[in-house]
Amino acid sequence: MDNNIYLIGFMGTGKSTVGKQMAEKLGWNHIDTDDVIEDKYKMSIPKVFEKFGEDSFRRLENQVISDLSAKSRNIVSTGGGTPIYHGNIDIMKDSGLVIHLETSTDILWKRLKGLGGRPILKIYDTFEKFNRLYLDRKTVYDMADMIINIGERSVIQVVDECIDRIFYQR
Ligand code: S3P
Repeated sequence: MDNNIYLIGFMGTGKSTVGKQMAEKLGWNHIDTDDVIEDKYKMSIPKVFEKFGEDSFRRLENQVISDLSAKSRNIVSTGGGTPIYHGNIDIMKDSGLVIHLETSTDILWKRLKGLGGRPILKIYDTFEKFNRLYLDRKTVYDMADMIINIGERSVIQVVDECIDRIFYQR
């Protein structure tokens, strides 16, 4: 299995941390789509939203995913909205294996509420709105090739389960 591995899922599911550790274990390259955008534009994601708006941010995300789809052996940690827009879910599925890191919105809401740095949380600022956004996105998340329930497990347990299921159980 040489193709890219894409981690998708709602905000707060640990896509970046899990991706980084998976890449270290496998000796693959790790790419975080938010980091690529921040590095390229030399500004934080909230600033990108503020200055250019969400539509432009979604176009940038699509550019990053399209560029990566021509490459291999990358563990790609995506943003929570990445698979939803511009057919990115299909681009990812066509160029690698897509893993959905999943847990309940109760756990995620507890983890994230009150934290800064996520412009989407300014709009979806109550549990009801947050949960509705998750449900709206879930059909796309469920198109992943593999779903890993992260529950309250540690990062390393999730990393090991991903690697085990990708390379030893399929
Ligand atoms: C977003 C999630 C964020 C980031 C941006 C938009 C979303 O990434 O890409 O703020 O639409 O859910 P994380 O999932 O890493 O928080």
